[in-house]
Amino acid sequence: MRRLAMVALLLLAGCGGGDADRAGRLRSVGPNPDLAALLRVANVDAGRRAFGQCAACHTIGAGGQSLAGPNLHAMMGRAVASNPRFGYTQALIDHGGRWNAARMDAWLAAPAGVVPGTRMAFAGVRDPMERADLIAYLQSESR
Ligand code: HEC
Repeated sequence: MRRLAMVALLLLAGCGGGDADRAGRLRSVGPNPDLAALLRVANVDAGRRAFGQCAACHTIGAGGQSLAGPNLHAMMGRAVASNPRFGYTQALIDHGGRWNAARMDAWLAAPAGVVPGTRMAFAGVRDPMERADLIAYLQSESR
């Protein structure tokens, strides 16, 4: 009985976005998937885990304080650099527009490549699946 419970737990862990799950998700989209395909299999829990690399500089809860970077609650769909309580660089303000999936994907891949002069001192996330997971998580925190 206890062994059964153990197996059930392991299966649940797999569904939560573990490595095996990730491999399966990637397989299901085929070679060279575009962003839309990756977003269809993106996993909020995996995104939440990946957000660990952002958490030194960003909170994401509603009303969370800004750290080195602005609070990221409800970021998807919002105008770029629009938190009135955060002092953005002119470079990011001039970037303009709204945060949709395509812009977020490019920004997270290479912040300084997309917005030269930004103060977001972060090299970027090279893995497209991980970026899609992060976008799914940002989306889930935008409702
Ligand atoms: C070393 C600190 C640091 C890390 C790590 C970091 N950021 Fe940032 N982030 C910043 C700063 C600073 C800004 C403001 C940049 C500017 O004004 O040029 C910013 C801005 C942003 C913005 C634009 C916010 C707006 O209001 O338009 C988003 C989105 C964002 N970061 C997402 C992320 C995500 C997702 C991660 C993790 C994958 C991350 N950042 C990692 C410091 C960081």
